[in-house]
Amino acid sequence: MKVLVTSVVKNDHISKNICRLSVEFDLEIKPGQFFMLKTTDDAFLLPRPLSVNDVNGNIVSFLYRIEGKGTKTISSLHENDKIQVFGPLGKGFDISNLKGKTAVIGGGIGVAPLLYLCKVLGKKADVYLGYKDSENMYIFDEFKSLAGRCVIVTEDGSYGEKGYVTDYVDYEHYDAVAACGPEIMMNKIAHICKTQNIKCYLSLERRMACGMGACLGCTIETKAGNKRVCKDGPVFDSEELI
Ligand SMILES: Cc1cc2nc3c(=O)[nH]c(=O)nc-3n(C[C@H](O)[C@H](O)[C@H](O)COP(=O)(O)OP(=O)(O)OC[C@H]3O[C@@H](n4cnc5c(N)ncnc54)[C@H](O)[C@@H]3O)c2cc1C
Ligand code: FES
Repeated sequence: MKVLVTSVVKNDHISKNICRLSVEFDLEIKPGQFFMLKTTDDAFLLPRPLSVNDVNGNIVSFLYRIEGKGTKTISSLHENDKIQVFGPLGKGFDISNLKGKTAVIGGGIGVAPLLYLCKVLGKKADVYLGYKDSENMYIFDEFKSLAGRCVIVTEDGSYGEKGYVTDYVDYEHYDAVAACGPEIMMNKIAHICKTQNIKCYLSLERRMACGMGACLGCTIETKAGNKRVCKDGPVFDSEELI
């Protein structure tokens, strides 16, 4: 893990309110890990957590939705502007738990950390991506070349299957499920996996101040006591979660 002030290699708007930032970084990164990012002009005080979306050689990318001040300021950066990055942080997905046939399920901006996961898992992973509608879709085409099977679902049916992504997964075909997305989606996945006895790993989000286990701001209650999402997660075995 290191703190680095580096230059923006690219920062593109790729869909409505969705951008992708690339910076140079040369440490090993695991899928599901994240960085804390901050502009160098102190436009906002606390760094913001963003998951690693992709790694290509020494270029690391982040896919993010513009939510508020932090992400809006980051979205205004141009090539060669300076940015402070701090990471990689958290435990990420344990690939040794995903050796069998794996379903990777993403909802909305939750697809962000799953692209690099699919790259590492290769064709043994099938991917299921859920979006609101065809106007709010991004990077689905990049998954197609990485995953064994790629199923795309929109809530209104304007692209791919219609409805909720969780309803299109053939759970019984898989040894494990890895997911990231809205909590309601992950709750449903955890419930189905429990009833079908399938291992399930979920990437959680909490508001974070330090990102490294010091402030306890991201603490959640688990069956094994309190855990910090930033340090003990953000990926958790769903069996641990309440
Ligand atoms: C480990 C981790 C990884 C993340 N990875 C990504 C990613 O890859 N791409 C991405 O777009 N976002 C990701 N997020 C969420 C991202 O950090 C927040 O959207 C961002 O910090 C918002 O900052 P802001 O200043 O733009 O908005 P703010 O002004 O701080 O907030 C705007 C709105 O977003 C809500 N919000 C802020 N942070 C969170 C959060 N953590 N969870 C739920 N709601 C929140 C606020 O309540 C508010 O309603 C991640 C969060 C965590 C904890
Ligand atoms: S953000 Fe400070 S302990 Fe997790």
